[in-house]
Amino acid sequence: MERALDVLELLSSSTFLSGESLAKTLGVTRAAVWRHVAFLKKAGVEIRAISGKGYKLCDDYEPLNPNLINEGLLKRGCEGYDTVDVVKVIDSTNAVLSRGYAEKRLVALFAEYQLAGKGRREDRWICPPGAGVCFSLSRWFDQPQASFSSLGLVVGIAVVNALKTLGIEGLKLKWPNDVVFRDAKLAGILIELRTEVSGPSFVVIGIGLNTCLGARVRDTIDKKVIDLKEVSGKIFSRNVVASVLLSGLERDLKVFGQRGFEPFISDWTNLDYLLGRTIRIDSGSKSVVGKVEGVDKIGALLLRCNGVVKQFLSGHITEL
Ligand code: BTN
Repeated sequence: MERALDVLELLSSSTFLSGESLAKTLGVTRAAVWRHVAFLKKAGVEIRAISGKGYKLCDDYEPLNPNLINEGLLKRGCEGYDTVDVVKVIDSTNAVLSRGYAEKRLVALFAEYQLAGKGRREDRWICPPGAGVCFSLSRWFDQPQASFSSLGLVVGIAVVNALKTLGIEGLKLKWPNDVVFRDAKLAGILIELRTEVSGPSFVVIGIGLNTCLGARVRDTIDKKVIDLKEVSGKIFSRNVVASVLLSGLERDLKVFGQRGFEPFISDWTNLDYLLGRTIRIDSGSKSVVGKVEGVDKIGALLLRCNGVVKQFLSGHITEL
């Protein structure tokens, strides 16, 4: 499977490449090249094949490169990461960092392609190779229970503010932590915690940002999704996007570790997509309809129903 990503990289630097020249460069058979191309297509990469000419990518592909990401971090004065790694194919960056239980304070792991990308509520996260920026951070926090219920909200704010530095405006946050443009999802966040009753806490933060999904893949996803290309009309370097996100996250997670959610509340209010909307929230066996009044100081959703404001720490939202 790693080899399929090598095929993708070779195709990105050329107009057309024949199966024969791909096979020669990679030292594999033409049948193997065919299998790798089939794998990429199945994963959602749009590839044109023209007889006599060979294969060509329909969209640009810029491989993630840890050196370029680190250069970008340095340029932004961000020195907080112990490690920034890029792997080609992996089950899920969240799963790997959760299993690793790294001793390092702050680690970032990117994947070109996840075979089992995890979404919230047991959903799959679908993103073809090169079509997004998918990564996880693992971070230790000194405090045992630093009101982690608001951590996802802080991560969402960090993502939106980081993208703003690239000129991407108009993004909102849908509680608890979907990044949306108008009513379509641009990025998702998955937080997995290992908090102890006392002592420090280990947190894995997974982020999937769509950069250039393509219409075919968008149609296979059962909710309205959008990518950076459509939001901005531009194609951004994935390595630049990666370093901008890492640098914003490092800064905001540090503030969160020291001061909790309080410094972020006004940003949340400005970015709150649901504020004032009527929604239904399903949490456990309970289903409540009401009007959103924002969040409280621990990041819980406040919903006014029948004159009473109720607080929710989790749940599935449906707009009405
Ligand atoms: C959501 O459902 O909105 C959360 C999506 C989180 C996806 C990212 S992609 C990188 C990281 N690894 C995973 O397996 N999931 C997260």
